[in-house]
Order: sequence, then C-alpha cells, then structure tokens
Amino acid sequence: MIRKKLIAGNWKMNCLSKDGTALAQAIATEVKANKFNCDFLICPPFTLLGLIKKCLRGSKIALGSQDVHFAEKGAHTGDISPLMLTDLGCGYAIIGHSERRVDHFESNELVCKKAVAAHNAGLNTVICIGESEKEREAGETIKVCQSQIEGSVPNDATAKNTVIAYEPIWAIGTGKTPTSADVQEVHAAIRKALAKKLGTAVANRMRILYGGSVKPNNAAELLSLPDVDGALIGGASLKADDFINIAKNVCK
Ligand code: 13P
Repeated sequence: MIRKKLIAGNWKMNCLSKDGTALAQAIATEVKANKFNCDFLICPPFTLLGLIKKCLRGSKIALGSQDVHFAEKGAHTGDISPLMLTDLGCGYAIIGHSERRVDHFESNELVCKKAVAAHNAGLNTVICIGESEKEREAGETIKVCQSQIEGSVPNDATAKNTVIAYEPIWAIGTGKTPTSADVQEVHAAIRKALAKKLGTAVANRMRILYGGSVKPNNAAELLSLPDVDGALIGGASLKADDFINIAKNVCK
C-alpha cells in the first residue's frame, strides 16, 4: 500500500506579488535541489496564481487554489470557476476549509457540490474537515468527522482526484496540536468512513493530510503516524525555510 506523502502549503490571505514571488522561488529552488520523496502543493491567494505558476515552472510543485465555485461560469460576482483555475494552470483546489465553513457559512452539501464541479473540470481537490474546540470537548470529534466525510466527499471521489485534510479548528494557528495518539485515532476513523462511502480499495489509497500548527519540530512525529499521509500547512508555509525543513524532516 503506497501513499506518497503530500506536503501542501495554504498561504491563506497572505502575500503580495513581491513576497509571494520570493517565497515561491525559494521553495522551488530547494525542491529542485533536494530529491524529496514526496509531492508538493502550494495554494496562494487567487490574485497570485498566475504569477506563482511561473515561479514553479519545472519544479514539480503543483499549484492549487483555496476555494472554487461550483458553476462553470455565469452570474456569480466575485467567484472563480473550476475552468478559470485549470486555465491558470492549477491542478488542485482546497475546498471546505474551516475558515470558509465558518466565515462563509459553507455547508457539507455546498462543499460536495464544489468538489464534483472541480473534479469534472479535471481539478484534484483537498477536502477539509475537522472539529471545533467545543465539539472536541464534548467528545464528538469522530462523529463530526464521520458526518463531514459522509456529507462533503462526493461519490465520484477517487484516490487520485481527492485528498482529505483533517484540521482540528482549535489547532489552526494556535500552536496547539492533538497528541499523536489522538491524530492517529481520528485519521483511522476517517479512513474507515471513507471505506464505508467509497470502498476499501479507494480508502486505502486516499491520502489523509493532517493540518493545524504543523511546524518543522513536530512534523516528523505527526507524519510518521500510519494514517497520516502528509500535511496542510498554514503559517509555516509562509517561511521558505520552515516549509522546506518540514519536507527535510519528513521526506528524506
Ligand atoms: P496553521 O499551520 O497556521 O495552523 O494553519 C493550518 C491550516 O489551516 C492550513 O490549511
């Protein structure tokens, strides 16, 4: 059973042309210089996608967006369609990040609809799930993740077109992480929920990333867990050294 690790950076609403270019170029140079045994993905804000695509040329780092609309085109002011993203050279779209679920009231149903549209346009998706602090304290983590998998992951999902990212909301940007035992328990439960929905063969090949305060000093332990197949990195993806040191500690 081979699941190649994926090291993904979510830049969120950060970087202008100058610092974004410098960051992407620094990462691309290191990725080219080191023969890392893993895949890479960078998800800058929409405004920088075209520019960053050029910086990544020849580097084998995939480019992704942080969201996508479900419609092909039309009257959706301010939105970006899947075809617009493939037109820019994107291979991936992050969908259902908790910051969109919370700030923009995105439901499982909407996330699923976006994923279907993205897949139809040839994009791979990183579908995000994860519990709030209140849900964790109430002992509902696994139940919440199971229902997010059930509702957000489309039936057409394959191990090739879909990556799951488990991001406990309380661990995002806080410096707090669950224990390794907790992460493994949730990832195993997510794989079980995927097996129920998509079959064991697909579930066993689908990558499940962990996200939430991944740093160079905790990445090796988290990503050595049997059901953790990579990381979705926020803050530490904005510093080339941190992002590369995570790869160095994980993908030797
Ligand atoms: P941090 O790595 O900053 O905690 O962010 C995680 C995240 O939300 C990635 O999508």
